[in-house]
Amino acid sequence: MIELDGLTKRYGTKTAVDHLSFRVRPGMITGFLGPNGAGKSTTMRMMLDLDNPTSGTVRIDGRHYRELDEPLKYIGALLDAKAMHGGRSAYNNLLCLAQSNRIPRQRVDEVLDLVGLTAVARKKSKGFSLGMGQRLGIASALLGDPEILMFDEPVNGLDPEGIHWIRNLMKSLAAEGRTIFVSSHLMSEMALTADHLIVIGQGKLLADTSMADFIQQNSRSFVRLRSPQQERLRDVLHGAGFVVVEAGNGTLEVDGATTERLGELAAEHQLTLHELSAQRASLEEAFMQMTAGAVEYHAHGTDVHGGGPAAPSGPVWGADSGWGPRAGSTTEGV
Ligand SMILES: Nc1ncnc2c1ncn2[C@@H]1O[C@H](COP(=O)(O)OP(=O)(O)OP(=O)(O)O)[C@@H](O)[C@H]1O
Ligand SMILES: [Mg+2]
Repeated sequence: MIELDGLTKRYGTKTAVDHLSFRVRPGMITGFLGPNGAGKSTTMRMMLDLDNPTSGTVRIDGRHYRELDEPLKYIGALLDAKAMHGGRSAYNNLLCLAQSNRIPRQRVDEVLDLVGLTAVARKKSKGFSLGMGQRLGIASALLGDPEILMFDEPVNGLDPEGIHWIRNLMKSLAAEGRTIFVSSHLMSEMALTADHLIVIGQGKLLADTSMADFIQQNSRSFVRLRSPQQERLRDVLHGAGFVVVEAGNGTLEVDGATTERLGELAAEHQLTLHELSAQRASLEEAFMQMTAGAVEYHAHGTDVHGGGPAAPSGPVWGADSGWGPRAGSTTEGV
């Protein structure tokens, strides 16, 4: 278990991490989500005592990192995959780490095998591709067989096979009862990986919720309809007691209805339909809405506050959740 209490980091006038308090529990994957510059890496560095907090504390199983006798056996981390000695082979990089932490040599072979690098173990790591480098970083995190693992953006730049591999590895480590803390700025990735979510923006805690609750609160289901007789269709839907939203481009959206029911209703009134499809709001969009006020770096022409070209028109729904996720939708669910 990792416990943060009022953790704060200021660089001059910039507050990178702002009174963060949360717990990371064992036996599950906790996703640490936030836009670029939100303070994820700074928080993780402080957890590992690589940076001093301005105030607040981090406890690992009740103790400060510095009080852990052999830290690699408690907590393993991949923060920066490039932080290896490029002139050394993968094997020697891991061997140095093992020897300085009193970890037996055979464990080096084990972790190389676990991450699939046995065949290139004697090659210098500076020639490694991004994916191979990430695997080597993960091997070093696993070296001490720790109960707690932290990965900072582990899927960045990986191909689909690599992403799939890391996801399954984290799941199997969590299933063994370990504590897994993984950062990302992609909600869609976290939705497939994490059991619990910590969301931050500009260093502040925005949400601490189970993934299931987040999905339940943000996966709005609705039916989209398009008809050359739109006016009549709208009247018929209203008449049947449905709340209809005009979503632009000649489409209507109806919450709380099935495609079957609406299709039959249209047929009863001999209305032609050009589209009748079940939709789900995108979790990525819900995340963007949640962090909209906290995004520091965004491209010109991208209106993260909604209403711009990236956000379809329409009323905000779910306002009582406080996040107002509405924009964007997908038929795939995430
Ligand atoms: N050593 C430093 N000196 C000054 N400012 C820093 C330093 N390290 C981080 N910052 C600032 O602190 C803020 C948080 O940065 P951090 O790298 O923790 O964000 P992040 O959430 O990891 O972002 P990303 O998704 O881009 O990796 C940023 O505004 C960054 O510019
Ligand atoms: Mg970072």
